[in-house]
Amino acid sequence: MTDDNTISSSPQKQTIYLDHSATTPVDPGVADVVQQTMLENWGNPSSKYQVGNAAKVVLQKAREQVAGLINAPAADLFFTSGGTEADNLAIIGTMHAARSDGRGDHFITDAIEHSAVLHAAEALEREGFRITILPVNEGGFVEADSLRNAITDDTALISIMQVNNEIGSIQPLDKLVALAKEHDVLFHTDAVQGYGKIPLDVDTLPVDLVSMSSHKIYGPKGVGALYVRDGVKIAARQFGGGQEQGLRTGTENMPGIAGFGAAAELCAQKMVSDAERINALRIQFMEWIGEEVGGDLILNGSPENRIYLNLNLRFPGVEAESLLLALDLDGIAVSTGSACSSGSTKPSHVLSAIGLSDEEAHSSLRLTLGRSSDEENLKYAASCIGKHVKRLREMAAW
Ligand SMILES: Cc1ncc(COP(=O)(O)O)c(C=O)c1O
Repeated sequence: MTDDNTISSSPQKQTIYLDHSATTPVDPGVADVVQQTMLENWGNPSSKYQVGNAAKVVLQKAREQVAGLINAPAADLFFTSGGTEADNLAIIGTMHAARSDGRGDHFITDAIEHSAVLHAAEALEREGFRITILPVNEGGFVEADSLRNAITDDTALISIMQVNNEIGSIQPLDKLVALAKEHDVLFHTDAVQGYGKIPLDVDTLPVDLVSMSSHKIYGPKGVGALYVRDGVKIAARQFGGGQEQGLRTGTENMPGIAGFGAAAELCAQKMVSDAERINALRIQFMEWIGEEVGGDLILNGSPENRIYLNLNLRFPGVEAESLLLALDLDGIAVSTGSACSSGSTKPSHVLSAIGLSDEEAHSSLRLTLGRSSDEENLKYAASCIGKHVKRLREMAAW
């Protein structure tokens, strides 16, 4: 971080970063914990001497910090290499266990999930499992009736995300999980975008599996976690020395895990204040952009039940990819979809699923705010957006 709260990076000196749903800059205090773990606490937590025991203490502390944020017992938390692995382990592991126990081979998810879930579903389908992909409404929400109608006697698992990464819709998990429980079906939620930002309490929400990722909460990349409710059976996806109770074996990524723990702890302290501050900024930011572009913009998705940091804006007549490149030259980082699908020419599957045409999807920009956002950098970003939107519209009119 620099004094003016922007992020310095090479080759550009300063970036106004508006893509916090793709990743977040590591908090300096978290980076200190990562470094300290590498330099001072480098032992293997499986070793039985003092250096190993010290590492075991670090591992346990991080497990408590990460689990604590969803009010889960530390013993039900399994570290992974990130959200993608947590999703795959939850979905493929649970479905394999269900099939071998004769509990069914039907999996239900929805059309706006992250590719970590949708591609895991496709992999299951290739193995002969039955898959149902639920539609969402124009706000980006799964409707309880459509879930109710999809559940059959052989449904073993439902996976519906907590918060969508492109349009920020917060799913009505209370209703959807209750429905699953009525039918005795396991429920997984990909909480990668909501974890640490909005509350999720596994004591009050009877969800069975929760995926989390460190790099979305100002922690290091390449580390995540899966919460597995006690008693839920999952078939391991890899085999080795038996770490993480054998569910996710391999020597633990200790610097990453310690950093993830520290980042989770920070979220516990800042969750309310971050939400209040960033939500107020987001509302102002949208107003400023509206003033700069002359009002012709549309918010994709729902204004209600949307995570406080997300704006997904449509600028009719503007090719969003050109806007992204122009803003990049001004030192402003934004996205036209999820980071992993950026670079593809296909319209976002999320925007298509909420009913946007290809043209509408291609004129949509995702702006996601975070701790580095402030009035000054957002005002500047709004003026740059206005300048480029007007210019691109003029060019399109020729
Ligand atoms: C909703 C969602 N799920 C899963 C992932 C994948 O997480 P990771 O990058 O830690 O593998 C992401 C990352 O963009 C995401 O937004």
